[in-house]
Amino acid sequence: MCGIVGYVGSRPATAIVIDGLQHLEYRGYDSAGIAVLQDGAIHVRRDAGKLSNLIKLLAQQPIDGHLALGHTRWATHGKPNQQNAHPHSDASGEIVVVQNGIVENYRELRESLQAEGIDFRSETDTEVIVHLLALNYSAAGGLAEAVRKTLGYLKGPSAIVAMTSREPDRLVAARLGNAGGVAIGLGSGETFVASDIPAILEHTRRMIFLEDGQYAVITPAGAQIATLDGQPVAAEIHDIPWNPVSAAKGEYRHFMQKEIFEQARSITDTMRGRVDFDSGEMILEQLRLSRERARSFDRIVTVACGTSAYAGLVGEFLLEHIARIPTDVDYASEFRYRDPIIDERTLLLAITQSGETVDTLAAVEEARNKGAFVVSIVNAIGSQAARISDGVITMRCGPEIGVASTKAFTASVVDQYLLALALAQARDSIGPAHRRRLVDDLAHLPRLMGQVLDQSPAGNAVYLDLAERFHGYRNFLFLGRGINYPIALEGALKLKEISYIHAEGYPAGEMKHGPIALIDREMPVVAIAVQDSVYDKMISQIEQVKARHGIVIAIATEGDDFIASKADHVITVPKAPSLLTPVLSVLPLQRLAYEIAVWRGADVDQPRNLAKSVTVE
Ligand code: F6R
Repeated sequence: MCGIVGYVGSRPATAIVIDGLQHLEYRGYDSAGIAVLQDGAIHVRRDAGKLSNLIKLLAQQPIDGHLALGHTRWATHGKPNQQNAHPHSDASGEIVVVQNGIVENYRELRESLQAEGIDFRSETDTEVIVHLLALNYSAAGGLAEAVRKTLGYLKGPSAIVAMTSREPDRLVAARLGNAGGVAIGLGSGETFVASDIPAILEHTRRMIFLEDGQYAVITPAGAQIATLDGQPVAAEIHDIPWNPVSAAKGEYRHFMQKEIFEQARSITDTMRGRVDFDSGEMILEQLRLSRERARSFDRIVTVACGTSAYAGLVGEFLLEHIARIPTDVDYASEFRYRDPIIDERTLLLAITQSGETVDTLAAVEEARNKGAFVVSIVNAIGSQAARISDGVITMRCGPEIGVASTKAFTASVVDQYLLALALAQARDSIGPAHRRRLVDDLAHLPRLMGQVLDQSPAGNAVYLDLAERFHGYRNFLFLGRGINYPIALEGALKLKEISYIHAEGYPAGEMKHGPIALIDREMPVVAIAVQDSVYDKMISQIEQVKARHGIVIAIATEGDDFIASKADHVITVPKAPSLLTPVLSVLPLQRLAYEIAVWRGADVDQPRNLAKSVTVE
């Protein structure tokens, strides 16, 4: 999970930047680099592997100055080697940039830059940014304008920081979409910038956070913020408490809120280094699954609890559709009590955020004893589930502190998508063109998620209005169909656990077999009705609810005007390939549950009776 640290001021900058990067090491990375302005020229030091390698290199070839920019990289495009490490420089070496995020259209941009005679020295998507900055620099009349112009060419979420030897008093940072944060720390006669607060917290507690679509000119005197279309912004200065736990919460009111809004970034991290967007291949080293073994499975059994089990239900669609392997999902707490039929031709998939859930661990033991190959999808590295599995896919979404699971849900769905592609690759279950399309679809996911996670006043207003209106209701019904049926289960679980409102999730087609009896004016029904193969069927369910005076809140695809005539309230998500729609449609349900719980004054991060890690049966 990439990290950025920058400094401009009067102190020696190298040590400050390296120290900041060390504070971000816990996030994981596979190469690191630093650019420093020394004697009027930019000097770059980069190395693969741990920061200690970079520190050794700096000891042999020291650089220092008062303007510096550092980065720890977790590879997405191209191997984790010295050439691909950030910062990246333009041909003249006068401009450098670091980036977190993905340039979705980097292939087109690289081809057109190459056609203009520009040589590329790395395999990264980031390098296009620095060449575009160089091309725009003169016409734009400075780095800030060049950054603003360059971002206009980029598709996909990006957080970038750039510097140039031609403007020795400044860094320019910008944020496009949700590629993670940009925190600007205000000191006295010095200013810091970082992707994460802990990197600079020991120097200052006064911070500004860039919003999506803003850029900042950072000088020793402070930071000037403007929108990417040029409107100056009077940014709020936050006072961050010293307590490291509160500090980690940053600008957010609750960890759950932070974790909801982190998801576009955590999904980028989940994909990093595992999806080769050029070849369309999966690189899941810890899966430790030979081609022969992958071809030997005749079924997959997924075991998990709670939210992780619902992620498994989404995965059932993905694994069957992409890998073409019959898949069943079992509550881990039930699994071992019915003498399950498992043998060495079974791939047992355990999904567990904590990796310590006792029921899931017991199910894994049971399956291992029966000869299954066990793969676990875990968030907590080194947890028991990871230790006792044959193969592991980590979620890489960082610590999930809110008791109600949010970012682990989306990360484990994406991990299953990667697993399905890896199995399809080994078993030749789908053709290369189809696999390629599925991989390309993934690259757009963080940007689409970022759109649903719009935190602007207008983006928040939808949820605040609904929370105001619905926080007093006592029951909710959630309906979904097809791959979005598990999202109805997850939406209901989120609402009930943090707001204590009774909520049921149902496959929409089952409504008429019972729950329809409950529908009246007091029963809000949340219907996930995105435009996919079961859309018409969802519309007819909505009509049945309306015929009984139920209130419908629809989660619909952007641009679907028809649904507005059927539902009472509509929340939209962008159009997406159908296998990825659950990752988008769950986001409004998390936001809605969160705002309703806040309205009710509930303890969102630590709901009553619940534990983050359930280590008792
Ligand atoms: C719901 C929630 C729980 C967990 C469940 C499994 O928001 O957090 O339902 O999903 O206890 O936990 P893990 O994934 O740690 O095994």
